[in-house]
Amino acid sequence: MREIYPVTWQNNAVVLIDQTRLPETYTTVNITTSEQMAVAIKTMIVRGAPAIGVAAAYGMYLGAREITERDRTPFLAALEDVAIRLRQTRPTAVNLFWAIERQLQAANQTEGDVTAIPARLLETAQAIQADDLRTCQAIGDHGVSILPSEPQAVTLLTHCNAGGLATAGYGTAVGVIRSAWREGRLKQVFADETRPRCQGSKLTAWECVQAGIPVTVITDNMAAHCMQRGLVDLVVVGADRITANGDAANKIGTYGLAVIAQAHNVPFYVAAPVSTIDFKLATGAEIPIEERDPQEIYQVGETRICAEGVNFYNPAFDVTPAALIKGIITEHGVFAPDQLAQVKP
Ligand code: MRU
Repeated sequence: MREIYPVTWQNNAVVLIDQTRLPETYTTVNITTSEQMAVAIKTMIVRGAPAIGVAAAYGMYLGAREITERDRTPFLAALEDVAIRLRQTRPTAVNLFWAIERQLQAANQTEGDVTAIPARLLETAQAIQADDLRTCQAIGDHGVSILPSEPQAVTLLTHCNAGGLATAGYGTAVGVIRSAWREGRLKQVFADETRPRCQGSKLTAWECVQAGIPVTVITDNMAAHCMQRGLVDLVVVGADRITANGDAANKIGTYGLAVIAQAHNVPFYVAAPVSTIDFKLATGAEIPIEERDPQEIYQVGETRICAEGVNFYNPAFDVTPAALIKGIITEHGVFAPDQLAQVKP
């Protein structure tokens, strides 16, 4: 089954799959400066919490190699400026902040001449990327353990894209899908379209097709009907930030999906690496929610689909309360939301 690598390091550049152009066009973008990386994250050429983390880690390396200071204190101050710029790109996914922090620590711990720092940051970015790939494979395999014993092959519904494109290459929720498919435990996937950016219909469906996994796309407002008709055995979604109490921020619409899953007795799981858990925040109310350009709502392609003079509100994420989540599938196993302390690093 083909994995997908949204971020790769090739010929002295970071190569990103341009996720804004899928599925019509598969194309890549070469990133050679930290500013280009910040723009790529902001404009969602690269998106999805772990993938943003990997991209930001490389962004820190690109920033380090741009710095001309040779004294330690001004070098580290200039690197902090790179971190500030990258942190401004997207506020919700904690993996961004986590990866930047790891790179700042790596720089601080590099002894001797500052010329050694860029190489150390490149190594760290590559390590973050390799770890994420292994982590998601473990998440996928643990996910198989929560599949109901009946039916033998389940229908799983997911929202947004928590796939190879959103990680280093295997996926969290889509990691569970990949592993379940490999084990013969998956009948098909329902992919929510995921308005307004349509990560479900554009990216998750594309990934499933690449992997030969049967996928049915529905618009977001069809999920309740599908559950009422008994068409969905379980829901698995990704997360952008999980707080210490098990509340989980994910793509807008996830909360509504959890509410209707509970109403229909359909188990609702979140799949995410431990790096997505923000133990510094007590509850989901503290998670910053990104608001994006309203054009994402009122324009489809070149066409305006809403009257002039209308107001818009475009939050990109919502928070699903822990009470609606049956389990959080991590690389260390599956935990009830109130058991997350067990995986605290
Ligand atoms: O705005 P996006 O496309 O970056 O949002 C992505 C999601 O909400 C994903 O579900 C989440 O990042 C998990 S990715 C493994």
